[in-house]
Amino acid sequence: MFALQTARAGSPADLYTELLEQSRALLEGERDSTANAANLAALVFHTLPDLNWAGFYWLRGRELVLGPFQGKPACVRIAMGRGVCGTAARERHTILVPDVNAFPGHIACDAASASEIVLPLVKGTKLIGVLDLDSPRPARFQEIDARGLEEVVRIFLDATDFDT
Ligand code: SME
Repeated sequence: MFALQTARAGSPADLYTELLEQSRALLEGERDSTANAANLAALVFHTLPDLNWAGFYWLRGRELVLGPFQGKPACVRIAMGRGVCGTAARERHTILVPDVNAFPGHIACDAASASEIVLPLVKGTKLIGVLDLDSPRPARFQEIDARGLEEVVRIFLDATDFDT
């Protein structure tokens, strides 16, 4: 049985080492996409400091549809290419937004969000959706977060079956 550990890590690098270990342990033995996404959103939200939202959007046709998340209720549908999520999905690369107000077309779901990071979920050649994290702190996300979260995404995609 998985037990959420309180982060002991000092440096951001140590924090990601712990998060990656916990992600592997949390998803081991389960391949259901809803279960794994819900648990991973909770793990990330409660492990990384200064987040007000962490969760998934799934690609459904030509739009993204809200999936499991932690935080306040959010926008349900985002068209491909719209907002930070739709842009990361279309371009298939991680987008770091230090100031959401400076990102053209940013979609404000929670007025508290000041900075954001969105990572595409690409399994093989197929786009599954995106992982989105918001912070009330400006410039909360750095390169180390991008690299660490890309590794979390890889663990999630390897551990999970998608039937879309
Ligand atoms: N800010 C995102 C929308 C999703 S919420 O932040 C949960 C965007 O611009 O795509």
